[in-house]
Amino acid sequence: MFDGRRWVVTAGPTYEPIDPVRFIGNFSSGKMGYALAAALAEQGADVQLISGPTCLQPPAGVERIAVMTAREMLNACQEAVEKARGLIMAAAVADFRPQTAAAQKVKKQPGQAVWTLELVPNPDILQALACRKRPDQIFIGFSLETHDGEHYALEKLRRKKLDAIVLNHPYEKGGIGADDNEVTVLYPDGGRHFISYRPKQEAARAIVAELARRFSSE
Ligand code: CTP
Repeated sequence: MFDGRRWVVTAGPTYEPIDPVRFIGNFSSGKMGYALAAALAEQGADVQLISGPTCLQPPAGVERIAVMTAREMLNACQEAVEKARGLIMAAAVADFRPQTAAAQKVKKQPGQAVWTLELVPNPDILQALACRKRPDQIFIGFSLETHDGEHYALEKLRRKKLDAIVLNHPYEKGGIGADDNEVTVLYPDGGRHFISYRPKQEAARAIVAELARRFSSE
């Protein structure tokens, strides 16, 4: 299911501009998504990595498409997913963006005590892509929570009509920004596969091996 097949991976944060020098973002480093892209390429997949801003180099043999905002990521995904066997959505997409990005740097006013920003929701990329998903395609999401992780991950799995969701256990060990991670892959039928704490590169290989075990007959 990987050899010679197109897989799309998203990674990193999105940046949502406030003005030309400021943005709303998050602490995602992109390491997990980049590790997944590398692990898929090792299995012979033709990988397109759609990446928000990170300091990372694309893995060997992987085509990287650089984006900044959630809306740019959605556009890139819509195009890339057309020809793909699967999508792994490891990016930490900003749920909201400033309603308007100022054309010039916003200056503080003398004595200003509060700066209120109006935020509007970003599109949910997985949900938008789910509408056009073909039966032969496999869509995998990631879930990051500070509490009740499994409950929320299962809710996202159903809401976004995913084939599996990878639940990060960041506040126990590893996770956002870290070099190591511990995850559980959850399936709509209640199936689950735990991957214990290890370097993200190895966690990514274990996730890819688990996906092969689960989906290679489809
Ligand atoms: N995701 C997405 N588009 C968004 C937000 C998230 O496609 N606008 C994807 C993420 O890449 C991830 C999955 O949805 O694969 C779950 O993301 P997460 O941030 O954990 O959950 P949210 O859907 O944002 O839900 P919540 O607001 O409860 O955090």
